This record gives sequence, C-alpha cells and structure tokens, in this order.
Amino acid sequence: DIQERVFSGIQPTGHLHLGNYLGALKRFVELQESHDCLYCVVDLHALTAQLVHDDLKGQTRSITAAFLACGIDPKEQIVFNQSAVAAHAELAWVFNCVARIGWMNRMTQFKDKAGKDRENASLGLLAYPSLMAADILLYRATHVPVGEDQKQHLELARNIAAKFNVDFAERIEKAGCGVAMTMGEERTTGYFPMTEPLIEGEATRVMSLRDGTKKMSKSDASDNARINMTDDAETIARKIRKAKTDPEPLPSDVDGLAERAEANNLVGIYAALSDTTRQGVLRDYGGRPFSEFKPALAELAVDRLSPINAEMRRLLADPAEIDAVLKDGAERAGELAEKTMRDVKDIVGF
Ligand code: ADP
Ligand code: NA
Repeated sequence: DIQERVFSGIQPTGHLHLGNYLGALKRFVELQESHDCLYCVVDLHALTAQLVHDDLKGQTRSITAAFLACGIDPKEQIVFNQSAVAAHAELAWVFNCVARIGWMNRMTQFKDKAGKDRENASLGLLAYPSLMAADILLYRATHVPVGEDQKQHLELARNIAAKFNVDFAERIEKAGCGVAMTMGEERTTGYFPMTEPLIEGEATRVMSLRDGTKKMSKSDASDNARINMTDDAETIARKIRKAKTDPEPLPSDVDGLAERAEANNLVGIYAALSDTTRQGVLRDYGGRPFSEFKPALAELAVDRLSPINAEMRRLLADPAEIDAVLKDGAERAGELAEKTMRDVKDIVGF
C-alpha cells in the first residue's frame, strides 16, 4: 500500500485565531511525531476571495512564523508556500478537467463565500477545491488534518482522485506507477490515494465567542468574536469575560451541554487546550458558574498562546530565518512534486 503522508495548509489571510490553532496548527505539531508531513502556506488560495493584497509576502511569513512557533520542525518536515512550487497550479489544471462543475456548485463554502451574486464570484473561488485537491494529491498525501469545515472539500478531493484513477486506469497500468488501495469496498490499483481527513479532538469546530451557532473565523467582522493568536493576555481575558453565555452553572456531564451551544464551545476549548475531554473538564467545573470558569479558561488560553506569540514576534523581527525555511521547504517539496508530475504527464500523455 501507499506510504502514509500528511499534508495540510493555511491561507495567508487575516488573523490566525484559536480555531486555526486548535483545529489545525496544534494537530500539525502532534502529527509530526508519527508521520512525514508537509505544511504549506497556501498563498494561491488567498487570491480566490480578494485579488489585490497589501502584503501577501508579509502574511505568508507570519503564517510560517506561526508554524515554527507552534513547534513544527522544518528540518524533519517540509514547510513551504504554495506559489513557490508551480506544480500545484499545473496539477490543478488537470483536475479542473477531471472535476465536474456540478461538484463545485454543491460546495457549501462556495455558496457561503459567493453569497447571492454567484455570477460575479471569481472562477478561482469556484475551482478552489480543485486546487486544494492538487495541493494534497501532488504529494499523494494520505491524511489531512483539518477543521470540520473542510470535510466536504476532502470528499471532493477523493472524488477527483477516484475519477482520475478510473478514467486513466489503463494508462496507469501501462505506466506501471499504480499503487494498491481500497476504493469503497474494493481492493484496486490507482495512482492517487483516497485521502482521509483527520478531524479529531474536542475542538474541530471552534465557534464564535459572540454567537454559538457561527464558527470562529478570520473573516468575522467583529474582532471580539475570536481570539487571535497574537492577542495579548489582557485582550484574551477581556474577550473571554465578555463571551456570550447563558446564566446557568456548568452541567456535571456532557449530555447537559447538548442544548447549550456557547457553554459547549467554551468547555470544548478548555478541553482541547488542556489535552483532556469535555467530560474531564466537567469533572472539575461541573456545577460551578461561568464567573469561575471564564477566568480559568482565560488563564489557560494565555498560558498556551503567549509563548507562541512571543516566538512569532522574535521570528518576524528578522525574517531571514523564515525565508530560509521557506526556500529549503520549496526545494524539497518541489522534488516530490516533480516526481508526481512526471507520472501524471506520462499518464495523461503530454
Ligand atoms: P479560516 O477558515 O479562518 O479562513 P483557513 O481557511 O485558512 O482559515 O483554515 C485553516 C485551517 O483552520 C483549516 O484546517 C480549517 O479547517 C481550520 N479552521 C478554521 N476555522 C476553524 C474553527 N473555527 N474551528 C476549527 N478549525 C478551524
Ligand atoms: Na477554512
């Protein structure tokens, strides 16, 4: 079977927040212990929502600094930015021709981001999942750590891989570059793996601090709705103190969180930050009021985020180290990508 490999990316747009940390970055660090990982700043994706950026390079450095500050080892893993490896766009073109427009039209992220005026959304926004499939499959990655919001895009990446494998089955066999894999119930041979999302832990969908039904997001207009990774201790404490909650004390077990979106969110954040479960948190805090729980949560968040914040600032003060990491990463990613593109060209017949 194909060798296990992890790929994931983060866009260089807006502020990194607690959802990005718990849903993605913290998991990236954990996975490097057991897997070969590629972590990418997906700057090509940044053009899909907004074409002209003030400081794309600066934003790319800042995400790279976050990768490093969280503890990703750039020598053992590959840290790079997407636009530095041209094969991402090259493979995405092939995938644009594999994927069907109907698949793209069904993506909830596209519907959300395009809003009512779909005719005026960029073609790139529509094709976003095809580029994302290319990001992953260029390295024949088997696992992608992401938040829950990306589940549908991963499903689409599998559809693209499966259609490519089936449509080009004879060519793949002739080129002799197929690998054994399980597709549905069947054991078969294909070129691209059926990549699985890794959506695990207690904070796969961190919600807004102001509205427990909306996810915490870079694009939320209200800064009070999210905790930015660069917020100072006082700001974090204030945002958590003002977070929307109900007046009841915390329940004694997780069933009691079912109808309480805001309580569920804060308990989930606490659990993820302290590497325990919601039930574990409620063993300590069940029956206690938010006036006690919130300061404890703020203290925990500050404790976890402030060393990362300090290291990010140190790295960004002299970007030479970051730039060297990105250059080295792009070279190593480029070698892997070239190998895949040689196979793909052989298979397609270029
Ligand atoms: P955003 O959605 O904030 O614009 P990205 O699209 O760059 O951020 O997502 C980067 C990673 O962070 C993805 O794996 C995504 O699933 C994860 N992520 C984003 N928001 C959240 C959230 N609120 N909770 C958990 N994970 C999240
Ligand atoms: Na996202």
